[in-house]
Amino acid sequence: MHPVIAISSLSKRYDSGFEALKGVDLEIDRGEIFALLGPNGAGKTTLISIICGIVNPTGGSVSVDGHDILADYRAARSLIGLVPQELTTDQFESVFDTVSFSRGLFGKKPDPAYIEKVLTDLSLIDKRDNKLRELSGGMKRRVLIAKALSHEPKILFLDEPTAGVDVSLRKDMWEVIRKLRESGVTIILTTHYIEEAEEMADRIGIISGGRLLLVERKADLMRKLGIKQLRLELREPLSALPAELQGYDLTIEDDGKTLLYTFDREGERTRITSLLADLQSAGIRVRDLDTKQSTLEDIFVSLVKEQA
Ligand SMILES: Nc1ncnc2c1ncn2[C@@H]1O[C@H](COP(=O)(O)OP(=O)(O)OP(=O)(O)O)[C@@H](O)[C@H]1O
Ligand SMILES: [Mg+2]
Repeated sequence: MHPVIAISSLSKRYDSGFEALKGVDLEIDRGEIFALLGPNGAGKTTLISIICGIVNPTGGSVSVDGHDILADYRAARSLIGLVPQELTTDQFESVFDTVSFSRGLFGKKPDPAYIEKVLTDLSLIDKRDNKLRELSGGMKRRVLIAKALSHEPKILFLDEPTAGVDVSLRKDMWEVIRKLRESGVTIILTTHYIEEAEEMADRIGIISGGRLLLVERKADLMRKLGIKQLRLELREPLSALPAELQGYDLTIEDDGKTLLYTFDREGERTRITSLLADLQSAGIRVRDLDTKQSTLEDIFVSLVKEQA
C-alpha cells in the first residue's frame, strides 16, 4: 500500500539560522493514527507546518497522496485539514458561519447539510448560531476541528489537540478523534503528553532536537522495551538481601518495607515462582504484591536521555 504522506530528507533552517529539522524521513500510512511525540522545541509544529504549506522547507521533499507540496500545492493542501494550537477566529462570528467560511477558503461550494453533519458529530449543533465568545474552552477546540473538517479533508493534523484541557474533556477529544479515524480520515497528532500517544496512536514517532529518533508501532515499542517489575510489600522490614536471594535483580526500597523485582517479560522465564519459594525459605513474609509494566514514559525518558 502506498503511504498517504511521504517525507524524505526534510530539513528546515529558519532565517535566524536555527536548524529546526535535520533530515527527517517518514511515511504515514492511510487510515492510521500517528502520534508525533517530543519535548518543547523538538520541531513538531515546524514539521506539520511544512506539510500543510505554511512554512517552506530548506531541503528535502514531501508528497501528499502523490502530490508534491511545492509543485502541486493546491492539490496537496485540499486533502489536508489542520487543527492549530490556538483559536484565531473572529470571536463575534457564529459557529456555523465560521465553519462555512473555512470551507469557502478551499474553493468548495457551500454545503450546509455537510456543515451540519460535522457540527452534529462534534456535539456542536446546539451551538450553531452562538457566537464563538459564548462558548466554553472545550467547545472552541471542537470548533477548530469543525473548521479543519469543513472542506472534507482525507488527512487531519492536530497540533497539541488537548494541551491545557482537563482530563474529562481530553477523553472526549480522544473519542472524537477515534470516530474521525473510523470514518476513514488519516490522523496525525502532535503531543507532549505521553499518555495521549499511548492511548491513541497506532504508531509513534519520537522527535527531539529536529531529528526523528524512532518510529515504531506502539505495540512493538511497548513490547521491545517492556520491562516488568514486581513490587513485594513485606510484613517485616528487611535491612539487607540474604545470600539465597543474591541471584535475582532485587532492590530494597521504602526503608526495607518493599522489595522491587525487575524482570524481562520477553525472557523465557520470569522466575517469579522460584523467587517466591526462595523468599519463603529465607523466612521473608510477603504482605502484598503487584506488578508494574514499563510505560511509554519510561521509554521516552530513556531515549531522550540517551540522545543528550
Ligand atoms: N519562525 C521561527 N524562527 C526561528 N526559529 C523558529 C521559528 N519557529 C520555530 N523556531 C524554532 O524551531 C524549533 C522548533 O520549534 P517548533 O515550534 O517546531 O517546536 P515544537 O516541537 O512544536 O515545540 P512545542 O512542543 O513547544 O510546540 C524551536 O527551537 C523554535 O524556537
Ligand atoms: Mg508546537
